[in-house]
Amino acid sequence: MENVFVLDHPLIQHKLALIRDENTGAKEFRELVEEVAVLMAYEATRNMPLEESEVKTPIGPAKVRMLSGKKLGIVPILRAGLGMVDGLLKLIPTAKVGHIGLYRDPETLLPVEYYCKLPSDVSERELIILDPMLATGGSAAKAVEILKEKGATNIKLMCLIAAPEGIHGVHKDHPDVQIYTAAIDEKLNSHGYIVPGLGDAGDRLFGTK
Ligand code: PRP
Ligand code: URA
Repeated sequence: MENVFVLDHPLIQHKLALIRDENTGAKEFRELVEEVAVLMAYEATRNMPLEESEVKTPIGPAKVRMLSGKKLGIVPILRAGLGMVDGLLKLIPTAKVGHIGLYRDPETLLPVEYYCKLPSDVSERELIILDPMLATGGSAAKAVEILKEKGATNIKLMCLIAAPEGIHGVHKDHPDVQIYTAAIDEKLNSHGYIVPGLGDAGDRLFGTK
């Protein structure tokens, strides 16, 4: 599948198995989601541009390669995307964080926007949208649309679990968006939940129901 990257590193897969387990409580769930986000960020940033530079070691000058000035922005979709933010900031502490608040209407399954606060220079940044669940794809596609309206052109999406419907839902209007996921599950159930998935990511992260 074009522009879809399934990250099958053993550590990611092991931690995802624990995340899926219904017996995993909120504290451990949060820790695991953050850990997987760190590992996924490592893969998703593989192509970041480097530039030649020089530093002085205690022994002498060394030619080195450092990240070129490319600015990064991470954009969690509230609420569940918040669980992945600290993982990315651990690796890229200078990234700016924008927030997009969307909830899925339980009847129509369509996203409803309730909040948006983005870095002012969002159009100049390479952006990574964070949301653990890509179900119908409505929320992620809406987030991409909001970012493109603000001039963003370089957008990736990072999720833990994607349904085939969600991948299609994003790529039908936004084939340019690279999707990084730890798994592609079987399907959606009649309530729009990913099967087998992990349940409701927001509720499991924050202990609500
Ligand atoms: C969940 C999830 C995604 C969305 C995925 O959020 O975190 O944002 O559903 O579904 P979709 O691909 O069909 O749009 P939810 O609406 O439950 O809000 P929450 O994160 O505040 O719990
Ligand atoms: N949102 C979730 O949190 N889980 C799903 O399976 C689908 C949407």
